[in-house]
Amino acid sequence: MAPINQLPAALLAACAVFLALAAPLLAGNPDMLQDFCVADYKSLKGPLRLNGFPCKRPENATANDFFSNVLAKPGNTNNPVGSAVTAANVENLPGLNTLGVSMSRVDYAPWGVNPPHTHPRATEIIFVLEGSLDVGFVTTGGYLYGRTVCKGEIFVFPRGLLHFQKNNGGAPAVAISAFNSQLPGTQSLAVALFGASPPVPTDVLARALQIDGGVVEAIKSKFPTNY
Ligand code: GLV
Ligand code: MN
Repeated sequence: MAPINQLPAALLAACAVFLALAAPLLAGNPDMLQDFCVADYKSLKGPLRLNGFPCKRPENATANDFFSNVLAKPGNTNNPVGSAVTAANVENLPGLNTLGVSMSRVDYAPWGVNPPHTHPRATEIIFVLEGSLDVGFVTTGGYLYGRTVCKGEIFVFPRGLLHFQKNNGGAPAVAISAFNSQLPGTQSLAVALFGASPPVPTDVLARALQIDGGVVEAIKSKFPTNY
């Protein structure tokens, strides 16, 4: 055992080693402790909240808990940005609970854009099914990694980094994305800045973006708040 006067240093060192080892585990969705844990949505009706969803008893799980046809149909791209994201995640596919994966389908109108956004809980890998996309992500240092990705090709957006896609053709395009989280979360840059509720103060945005408050108000009017 370490002498008394060395204990704090020994403890500090032990804590540092523990944190270094734990960090990679804490960075993604937690590891599984059982074969599966089909989400029991009904049990969340009470006041109790937890990180993820409670499990159904395994004998009550069915094959349908692991099945979804939600990505079979194209999303409606008739909107100002010309794209639609359809998600298959733990909120609509209960069998994904605790498995650390999910998918989405992105449909693009001709020249449509999936606007800049981030996924706080997942890295994304996108596979172009139809058409070709101009894609990119921006590092924390402000460098843009961008290129064209054609039918049959893939591109990776690292976890948490701002990214976008644009259909670079005059015909509809389709992509499938996979995520290493059951619920990646999506934060749209424009909606976060201009559609938050309560709103981000106009003077904050005007100063941050170095534009006139009137321009900020004009942009805000295009992003009705969700709450
Ligand atoms: C595309 O970036 C997506 O999040 O589905
Ligand atoms: Mn994305």
